[in-house]
Amino acid sequence: MKSLFLFCRPGFEDACAAEVSAHAGRLQLPGWCRARPGDGFVLFTSHAEDGGVCLYNRLALDELVFARQWFVVLAELGALQPADRIGPLLASLDALPEPVRGFWMETPDSNEGKSLSTLAHKLEHPLRRALADAGRLADGSPLWLHCCLLGGDHLVVGYACHHNSAPWPGGIPRLKMPRSAPSRSTLKLEEALLRLFGDAVDRYLPPGGRAVDLGAAPGGWTWQLVRRHQFVTAVDNGPMDAALLDSGQVEHRREDGFRFRPRQPVDWMVCDMVERPVRIAALAAEWMTRGWCRHTLFNLKLPMKKRRAEVERCLALIETRLTKTGIRYRLFAKQLYHDREEITVALIRPPP
Ligand SMILES: C[S@@+](CC[C@H](N)C(=O)[O-])C[C@H]1O[C@@H](n2cnc3c(N)ncnc32)[C@H](O)[C@@H]1O
Repeated sequence: MKSLFLFCRPGFEDACAAEVSAHAGRLQLPGWCRARPGDGFVLFTSHAEDGGVCLYNRLALDELVFARQWFVVLAELGALQPADRIGPLLASLDALPEPVRGFWMETPDSNEGKSLSTLAHKLEHPLRRALADAGRLADGSPLWLHCCLLGGDHLVVGYACHHNSAPWPGGIPRLKMPRSAPSRSTLKLEEALLRLFGDAVDRYLPPGGRAVDLGAAPGGWTWQLVRRHQFVTAVDNGPMDAALLDSGQVEHRREDGFRFRPRQPVDWMVCDMVERPVRIAALAAEWMTRGWCRHTLFNLKLPMKKRRAEVERCLALIETRLTKTGIRYRLFAKQLYHDREEITVALIRPPP
């Protein structure tokens, strides 16, 4: 198994390809990438026969910033006949190491991918039946089958382990915009919390916690925190949503987010200010090293061309500053589905 299939945001294929190639080089598993702008995916192929699976086993999806989801490629199937797409797919599963717990019919997050979603949906039922009949399904299996449609007659099939993949097809969570949330940005924080903590979110955001939201207006992120019973200091010169202020859980401070200091340490500092990424990274590092917050989650906006280089610069700055103070933390950096020209970064310490 030579190849890995990586889903990314359309327009970020070059960053995704450069990133996976850099890790492959570091792990002495070099290869090349098929990465066309706008495709919404990258296909990495190793020079070694088993290079794809070796790379998958030695790299975590969470180490990749620009890949939302990925899988080890078993086969790329072309010239599929409309009358029987499932037969060749099933025949390509001989190299599958063991039965799978389930499968996803996926499409890239591109315009072409969206036009294939009805077909993908139609193929789900016959594929489930065919997998069951062939004895390829097993409840306790750690493996998940991925079938990504690239055209009506073209698909890539492969597998991933559930502990080294995103919990959603294509890495895309289908979240509903909450009616009372004041901005769509709310979905960015909701996705980040789901992706980071899943069902364990209460351990990291126990009710009654204290948070600071820098660049909070109109309040989409604050809304997520209030919903989880946090007391929030919302820092922004812009107006906050009136209903949020009426909740009694939000104090609005019309101040500069770079100058604001909390009166006492808080559990969380979140920040969605539109600023140069390196300034935001330095601010987050300062909040952590000075002990003003226990955890932080922020967006780095990436309107520039050299996005990957900018991200690396910011992450290196954070690592240098936090390492100096000996703080133990987990760094998570990912371009999530609800992120646009930006990525989400979190610095998480063990819950108290
Ligand atoms: C993308 S919006 C935040 C949206 C917010 N997260 C939400 O969910 O509704 C960016 C906000 O950052 C604020 N901002 C930018 N620079 C700031 C600064 N230096 N201090 C405080 N707020 C700032 C802007 O006023 C704007 O409201």
